[in-house]
Amino acid sequence: MDAIQIIISLVLSFSIVLSLVQLECWSAWLSGEKLSEHMATIIEPFRIKSVEPLNFTSREERSDILKNADHNLFLVHSDHVLIDLLTDSGTSAMSAKQWAGIMVGDESYAGSPSFYRFEEATRKITGFKHVIPTHQGRAAEKIIFTLLGGKGKYFVSNTFFDTTRGNIEYSGAEAHDFLTEAGKNPGLIADFKGNMDTVALEAFIREKGAENIPMCVMTITNNSGGGQPVSMQNMKETAAICRKYGILFFIDACRFAENSYFIKLREKGYADKSVLEIAQETFSLADGCTISAKKDALVNTGGFLAMNDDAMTQEAKNLLIITEGFPTYGGLAGRDLEAIAQGLEEVLDEDYLRYRLRSIEYMGEKLSAAGIPMILPTGGHALYLDAKAFMPQIPPHEFPGVALANALYLQGGIRGVEIGSLMFGKYDADGGHVAPPMELVRLAIPRRVYTQSHIDYVCEVIIEVFQQREQYSGYRIAYESPC
Ligand SMILES: Cc1ncc(COP(=O)(O)O)c(C=O)c1O
Repeated sequence: MDAIQIIISLVLSFSIVLSLVQLECWSAWLSGEKLSEHMATIIEPFRIKSVEPLNFTSREERSDILKNADHNLFLVHSDHVLIDLLTDSGTSAMSAKQWAGIMVGDESYAGSPSFYRFEEATRKITGFKHVIPTHQGRAAEKIIFTLLGGKGKYFVSNTFFDTTRGNIEYSGAEAHDFLTEAGKNPGLIADFKGNMDTVALEAFIREKGAENIPMCVMTITNNSGGGQPVSMQNMKETAAICRKYGILFFIDACRFAENSYFIKLREKGYADKSVLEIAQETFSLADGCTISAKKDALVNTGGFLAMNDDAMTQEAKNLLIITEGFPTYGGLAGRDLEAIAQGLEEVLDEDYLRYRLRSIEYMGEKLSAAGIPMILPTGGHALYLDAKAFMPQIPPHEFPGVALANALYLQGGIRGVEIGSLMFGKYDADGGHVAPPMELVRLAIPRRVYTQSHIDYVCEVIIEVFQQREQYSGYRIAYESPC
């Protein structure tokens, strides 16, 4: 054998080895298993093409920043925040395809093809006949509650989000929550802590009279209740009660994809259904929905109102024109409609949802192992620290949640939001403090923005603050806006 023959036979045997490796991979693919499915580490199902720098500050600088902001984290400039967990709303990283959609968005005042793409994407998931784009979720709420609200009316929900409640109360009507008992117990591990208490709901309908209750709203996932999911069974039971009494059943569907994936993971009979099928079944139970696209549509602005009723849609469009814009763009630009259409497709990707729910669960597991008190199980979009148990030396009227949120910023430049006595506390007739049931700090995780090492860093900071928790003291309100 001469040198050329030796080289040829080496190349041939190398190719045979390579093709065998490929055969190994193909056999996994043919068996239906994705190559990474057996691995314990669930990775971010994307790679990064465009980056934004994070700004580091020293502890001394952060101490001055807090003083200058009067210890109100909403007044801190975001370029002084290292990891911003203030909200998951409007903070998603858009994909290359969404940015491409931004470039092809058609800005015609009427009849833009971008609207029709948006309409098709929303119809495919929700099945509703009419869809009306708005600049964000609360604009859709404003329209529907202006139409249906008013003095003497009652609206019911598992838990109203605060803008929804605000729009109802602004119309003169009352908003009532019927959260299941399990949802009120932060430490209780249960699958669907966002559910409606259907017994209490029906009793309320009988007491007030169905004719005074225009609508029931199911919030999925239940944001104010800790991002906890609602089961399909509970939605079916609630929809049946609404049908029985002739009450409209709407879904506040900001996080419909996260809720659908929880159903797939946790509810009997749904493991083999796709998230799209579960979402379609969810919406098929309802008469309509309001959505803030800033969550599960993976965009930075937008929302919509969708429903089947022709007459109510016409009235809603009349209001839309004087508040938001013409019905084929609402409060949005054509480019925003393109990005929403694309985002609605991407959010149903189960690799994405698996990573999304896992990243919050992972954070919960790490913190629980260190003894950090929080709402359990972790929800779909945020982790809620139990500030009362974290800093028991601070009484509710001295705002333990504010103390904890300030401590996390001072220690590591992390921004969360207090959900407790500052946000929901009230004064009694003598000016005394009436505390809400829980003192929480919400750490909301923006979609596709931070990686596992960012989450590890956040856990490290929380654990450090926990180890020094005795050194923190409370706050008092120095100035309060009169309204
Ligand atoms: C459950 C729920 N409903 C409604 C809204 C309001 O949406 P937007 O902020 O787009 O007005 C939010 C926002 O966080 C929400 O979480």
